[in-house]
Amino acid sequence: MGDEDGRRPRRTSRNSGRNPSSRGVSRRDFLKIGGIAASVPLVGTKLAGAAGTDPAVLGPGKVPVALTINGRRYSAELEPRVTLLDALRNSFDLTGAKRVCDRGTCGACTVLMDGKAVYSCSVLAIEAQRHQITTVEGLGDPGKLHPVQKAFWDNDAQQCGFCTPGFVVATKAFLDHTPNPTPEQVRKGLCGNLCRCGTYVGVRAAALQAVGVGGSPGKRGAAAEEGGRRNG
Ligand code: FES
Ligand code: FES
Repeated sequence: MGDEDGRRPRRTSRNSGRNPSSRGVSRRDFLKIGGIAASVPLVGTKLAGAAGTDPAVLGPGKVPVALTINGRRYSAELEPRVTLLDALRNSFDLTGAKRVCDRGTCGACTVLMDGKAVYSCSVLAIEAQRHQITTVEGLGDPGKLHPVQKAFWDNDAQQCGFCTPGFVVATKAFLDHTPNPTPEQVRKGLCGNLCRCGTYVGVRAAALQAVGVGGSPGKRGAAAEEGGRRNG
């Protein structure tokens, strides 16, 4: 009797004399299933069903997605492939998080998920359901800046500003976790964000100022006031 490939089964001293069906899924079957499942995710339901689980398959069409962002509920019909970043920007008009690399490298899209910094370009919107999402819009506003935002302002920690929302959110997450950091810890803690304008010195000074251990508080504010007096 041949196997599924039409070849004679090889007998070894370990399985000779046993009924193959009594061993359940053979090692060969297991390797086949594992290889297929890894390369063809869409057949996962059938394979997983054979293993006793039956996960729901969503998409490829739009499905209802409900998110809690900055304490408010947002809902939309989205394809399951839509990232949290695209949902924020394109469906909910929250454009603070920026799309730059779109592949989890630069940090411009950083948001908080349950207080933890994540690259929103690398999280699916459907995965973000049942989590608390905080974007830079949820930290403060021009009339009432978050201490980290004020520290960025005070320390001139931006030039073009495109990376700044991601840096602000990442800095908040870092300081929440490390409230009394050394300069070296700040450097390492913010290494997941890139700034093409090279404002790293200002960003690190802002992080230290925000927790009261350094920075240049009031530097920019004082300069603005001075300019105002001169112009006035
Ligand atoms: S846009 Fe998400 S990490 Fe760069
Ligand atoms: S301020 Fe321009 S990329 Fe950072």
